[in-house]
Amino acid sequence: MAIANQRAVFLMGFMGCGKSYWGQRLATAMNYKFVDLDELIEERQGQSISEIFQQKGEQAFRNYEQAALSHLSQTILNHRKCHQKIVVALGGGTPCFFDNINLINHSGTSIYLKTPVRTLAQRLQQARDERPLIAKLSLTELQHYIEQSLSKRSTYYEQAHHIFNMDQIGEHFIAHYKESLGSK
Ligand code: S3P
Repeated sequence: MAIANQRAVFLMGFMGCGKSYWGQRLATAMNYKFVDLDELIEERQGQSISEIFQQKGEQAFRNYEQAALSHLSQTILNHRKCHQKIVVALGGGTPCFFDNINLINHSGTSIYLKTPVRTLAQRLQQARDERPLIAKLSLTELQHYIEQSLSKRSTYYEQAHHIFNMDQIGEHFIAHYKESLGSK
């Protein structure tokens, strides 16, 4: 699997699958720049994701998310031959709205970090506060929410160019993609 000629690697998957954590580590290992789409939205809007959800609602957030992704894709496609390569951690919902999945797949290589529901629920239980969609859910409600959402979102996630099962030891992720990105 040679993805060395791609300027951008997009990581997608449910909240809590480790897109930002592994994205940063992959970028460091490859000497790529790391971009977190949620942080880009916060910079562009001058508000945190939670503030956007609270004050403007989810639809406004999805519009900002789409605009930030389009802007990033344009930058990638316009500068194909120069600038540093990048790893992008998408938001959990990014590929599932508008035509974002096609925009992502057209702009670089996409990888779905596929993670078991029970792992996601355990991780998200500890980190609910900064995630407006799950902030008020109990553990049981959280598990139910993840199952329901995944059944809808998997259709989009599974359109990624590569699917990596995160029930494997995470270190394999870096080793695997470092080799793919480094080969022609
Ligand atoms: C969302 C995931 C979040 C963030 C927003 C909505 C989602 O990103 O974009 O709260 O719809 O799943 P992370 O997956 O990085 O937590």
